[in-house]
Amino acid sequence: MDAGETGSGVEIGDWWRRAVVYQIYPRSFQDSNGDGIGDLQGIIDRLDYVNDGTDRSLGVDAIWLSPTFPSPMKDFGYDVSDYCDVHPDFGDLAAMDRLIDECHRRGIRLLLDWAPNHSSDQHPWFIESRASRDSPRRDWYYWRDPKPDGAPPNNWRSVFGGPAWTIDARTGQYYLHSFLKEQPDLNWRNPEVVQAMHDVLRFWMERGVDGFRIDVLGMIVKHPDLPDNPINPDYEPSMPDTHKVLDHHSLNYPDVFDAVAGIRRVLDEYPGRMAVGEVFGPADVIARYHGGEALDGLHLAFNFQLLVHDGVQSPWDSEFMRGVVSALESSLPDGAQPCYALGNHDQPRLASRHNHDGRGQERSRAAALLLLGVRSTPFLYYGEELGMVDVDIPEDRLQDPARFYHHGRDPERTPMQWDASAGRGFTEGEPWLPFGPVEINVAAQQDDPGSLLSLYRDALRIRRDEPSLHAGELRDIDSPTGTFVFVRHAAGARAIHCAINTTVEPIDIALPEGAMSVLLATDRALDGLPVTGSFTVPALGAAWIG
Ligand code: NOJ
Repeated sequence: MDAGETGSGVEIGDWWRRAVVYQIYPRSFQDSNGDGIGDLQGIIDRLDYVNDGTDRSLGVDAIWLSPTFPSPMKDFGYDVSDYCDVHPDFGDLAAMDRLIDECHRRGIRLLLDWAPNHSSDQHPWFIESRASRDSPRRDWYYWRDPKPDGAPPNNWRSVFGGPAWTIDARTGQYYLHSFLKEQPDLNWRNPEVVQAMHDVLRFWMERGVDGFRIDVLGMIVKHPDLPDNPINPDYEPSMPDTHKVLDHHSLNYPDVFDAVAGIRRVLDEYPGRMAVGEVFGPADVIARYHGGEALDGLHLAFNFQLLVHDGVQSPWDSEFMRGVVSALESSLPDGAQPCYALGNHDQPRLASRHNHDGRGQERSRAAALLLLGVRSTPFLYYGEELGMVDVDIPEDRLQDPARFYHHGRDPERTPMQWDASAGRGFTEGEPWLPFGPVEINVAAQQDDPGSLLSLYRDALRIRRDEPSLHAGELRDIDSPTGTFVFVRHAAGARAIHCAINTTVEPIDIALPEGAMSVLLATDRALDGLPVTGSFTVPALGAAWIG
């Protein structure tokens, strides 16, 4: 075993800096027992697709599993009733151990999804906490008396709509829930809670997981007095109810950064582990989650602004992209690594989001070169590499409780489409959500050099091979309106220009004189084309040139 390797053969150190992470929604990846719900054995069975060490597989470095813990599934696993076990729909601890081993055997890292802001109301901690006003665990959650008129203690709104407080008849107090009433918020100002949640991290790291995606990290520490939030002056009735008030005292409250540093210290007890935070806010706030000059905060903090900003979907627009990337580049402390995603289980799929003119699949191709070209540890949502689309879910099959916009989040959570068979290769049973268009599947794209899957595989391979792409600096280049052009460069390696055209017309861009060639383009006929001094970026297309 080389120095720098763990017993499992996985290299330790800052692996996450050059990694590409693939998000798997476990219910929807692969069902191995015919119940229509994906499971851990299914994921094991499909690991060769993720990375088998050859160019036939996707070639990502790590997977993040959306929550796998026991849960009443009111919010599909983000309501955890036991942080140290596996939901029976997905398997058991032995299956998780096998998955960890099978990942490591292939050099794939495994990240679990840790939801520290709230538990399920069925978690034994909450059951004990709600039992009486003097329960030893009363203070593990937020309990407050009603106002004199019986109203909730403050004006905070649940992200899923309605007040963030529910009265508990037995003890006559309200408890706080930033999401569903079945997801009570844990009190991170109580050191016992902090200790218990840190121990959850240790439990999984002892078992060998490589890190965590941390759910709504910015909410875990609130203003100590829980004052009213300011009224949102821009609120309009067409907006989700949650936007009635600003989240001034409930999100990114300054004390949260101490909690983040504490989490980092726990991760540092185990070499080679990492955490990525689900955080919301402008670039300077994202930057703070890294912990300042000492970088003693998170390893990575998501910047979702290419996906959604201020609660609305982001445009497919080069100037907007340039603004997002340059704001983060200039805000991050030295040595901090950006982190972008263009899709996840909470947002409409990219191919549908940018499809107002029926050209969403073309934009999906350019998205591959943007996501994998920009300086970042990119997160790719399962099925994005196939151009999977949002699926219309009949009313009687809707599952997601968060219905405040676009019919909830079921449309982007439908099963992975492996082939064109009745069960799409996903299940032998009735899938928990309906399938999408049959023609979008792995088998149809696997051997087609012009497919989106081939483009992703080739982009991932080139990104692995080119130090400038997986480790280089990013410099923004002046370019005509409608294009976003930047250069990636690592010392001693060839520089690579990445160009994205978000308009429906081809656009000429100027490049440095000297012989270069197209390494990869959305129009595969351009691959290998010699380039000197200028290049025409195809309509809605993108290219890497070096
Ligand atoms: C963010 C998660 O991504 C989302 O799916 C979930 O509903 C909320 N946090 C609450 O845990």
